[in-house]
Amino acid sequence: MFNSEIIGHGMYVPPRVVTNHDLEKLMETSHDWIVQRSGIEERRWVAPDVTTTDLGLEAAQAAIANAGIEKSEIDCLIFAHISPDHDFPGNACFLQPKLGLTGIPAIDVRQQCSGFIYAMSIADAFIKSGQYRTILVVGAEIHSKGLDVTTRGRDVAVLFGDGAGAIVMRRADVTDRRRDSHVFSTHLFAEGQNAKELWIEAPGMALGPSRMNHEMIDELKHFPFMNGKKVFANAVKRLCEATHLALKANELTLEDIDLFLFHQANMRINQMVANELKIPEEKVFNTIQKYGNTTAATIPIGMAEAVKAGKLKKGSLVASAVFGSGFTWASAIYRW
Ligand code: UT7
Repeated sequence: MFNSEIIGHGMYVPPRVVTNHDLEKLMETSHDWIVQRSGIEERRWVAPDVTTTDLGLEAAQAAIANAGIEKSEIDCLIFAHISPDHDFPGNACFLQPKLGLTGIPAIDVRQQCSGFIYAMSIADAFIKSGQYRTILVVGAEIHSKGLDVTTRGRDVAVLFGDGAGAIVMRRADVTDRRRDSHVFSTHLFAEGQNAKELWIEAPGMALGPSRMNHEMIDELKHFPFMNGKKVFANAVKRLCEATHLALKANELTLEDIDLFLFHQANMRINQMVANELKIPEEKVFNTIQKYGNTTAATIPIGMAEAVKAGKLKKGSLVASAVFGSGFTWASAIYRW
């Protein structure tokens, strides 16, 4: 069996900054409410003609450049997201020609906020098995076009933002586990009984003959619905559990980890996880203040920003844990 490592990273966010004060002009909300309840100060929104694969392209190109490889070396593309450019085919198929690639498998992973670690896990398994050698893993998301930005939808609308991140994963030579870059393990979970606690109901094949009609739009079924309190409580519980499990699987302790990169849904979730696990604040890296929740993009954006901030360095041992709609959750331990 082979090992995989992350050899390049990149991120991209659209230039338009939307502050909490900007949202105050659209709905009954306040900067103070948003900061106190979520930690978010601003997020990015795309221009109307920009697509999710446009964001993914920018992040992917940055990751390929950072890896210092020729794009022709990429033999598999995996795209994590919940914001498809079109119903089908998936975003990976639309991104592939934008990257000037053809022939290689183009796979979409739709595991919401857990999508990037699910995608990393699939890439790791492909590389471990020897099936592929150099995999581009992209997480990109546009939320701004699909939110109810009126007072009705404020509990969800203030939380989400647009953005993208990507990594290149490659077969690694590992001679010393304590030093060499590689993915130690990934752990994936789901509990579909809670699928409707955070979801978009329409359009969908479950909705009668036309997937979507005016009545469904009037009932706001095309906007995300979230049982915020239930999602919050489960997120704290599962992020703690998944982190513990990943450490145990590798016979590591919390002290062995140099950096914790958690999903970015709510600053208070991550603070509660850090308190519960007794992780010192400086070891947890958050980006939610600037970008909000970019679902499948939060982890690779976190990687890129942590490198830029000097918090993530070659040889750092990282623990990531994510939680989201599904419910799905996942964790990973990797040496950068
Ligand atoms: O990755 C997974 C994705 N999502 C999450 O993980 C999110 C998990 N949930 C949360 O982060 C929190 O539940 C929220 C931030 C969504 C809400 O925070 P909360 O402390 O649970 O607030 P709440 O839902 O209990 O609402 C408190 C009040 C309500 O008013 P009343 O009933 O007390 O009069 C809401 O109507 O705050 C009101 N409210 C708002 N007020 C101003 C809800 N949204 C807003 C808003 N601005 N944007």
